[in-house]
Amino acid sequence: MKSVKLFTPASVANVSCGFDVLGFCLDPVGDDMTIRKSDEKGIRITKITGQDLPLDVHQNVAGVAAMALLEANPSEYGFEIEINKRIKAGSGIGSSAASSAGAVFGINHLLGSPYTNHELIDFAMQGEKLASGSAHADNVSPVLLGGFTLVRSIAPMDVIKLPTPKELVAVIIHPKIELKTSHARAILKKTVTLKSAIQQWGNLGALVSGLYSDNYDLISRSLVDEIIEPYRAMLIPEFAKLKEVSMNAGALGCGISGSGPSVYALTKGFENAENVGQAMREVMQKLGIDFEVHISKINEEGIKILSEE
Ligand code: HSE
Repeated sequence: MKSVKLFTPASVANVSCGFDVLGFCLDPVGDDMTIRKSDEKGIRITKITGQDLPLDVHQNVAGVAAMALLEANPSEYGFEIEINKRIKAGSGIGSSAASSAGAVFGINHLLGSPYTNHELIDFAMQGEKLASGSAHADNVSPVLLGGFTLVRSIAPMDVIKLPTPKELVAVIIHPKIELKTSHARAILKKTVTLKSAIQQWGNLGALVSGLYSDNYDLISRSLVDEIIEPYRAMLIPEFAKLKEVSMNAGALGCGISGSGPSVYALTKGFENAENVGQAMREVMQKLGIDFEVHISKINEEGIKILSEE
């Protein structure tokens, strides 16, 4: 096999109560990547379309993740990476994770899969580290494993794939302003009170239980973030209003997608999702900020192989 073409999906991290540990994978939104084997050793990023991002492998998350894999598993071949970016950098739906995960997935596939997708998470996370200044695996995990994932630990890496209740649908509104993850992390407090921690781990445990038991009411009650959202909400235009109208339109919960500015909601069924999407649209239209809305089932598969030669 000489080359593989992939669809590398967007993802939603944190899911309100799971800062840096929870995430889920989206379906229709994502990038295309082509990875080619070459006789020249090392990693080269040969082409990026759709966005202005560095081709320098040390400056690009895909390059950094790919080099981490080759360092652990030296190969007689090199690899060329081509990316058609459709997920905007700084949008809050895992743009860097899609590229990092895609690079290691593609190279691993062309090498005959020496690693499992679980094992690839660690390499992909090295790309995330470049993008945000700190290592977190809550976006790369659902991209590599599909569905919902829980990162129990990053050292050693221990990620659990969670079940997806069949009627869950995600609604994403992306106000087209750029918010850097590094900035959205820098404004956070380094300590939390015991009271907030108790509430957060209560909600996180309950959300996981709700996913296992298809309990939509419990999922709804658990989609609460007492720790991060109060600080980041001010970075997102009309966040409180978006949340209010989403809940009124029938969302199970609504919060910041990753580090923002995208806002996500989860609903039971597509009809509710359409209503929530419309309510969100009306808020943004009044503001006059350019935006897009995505309605997506939860992608249980993760990265897809489109073709290979
Ligand atoms: N958990 C990370 C954060 C996700 O919220 O900073 C960033 O994509």
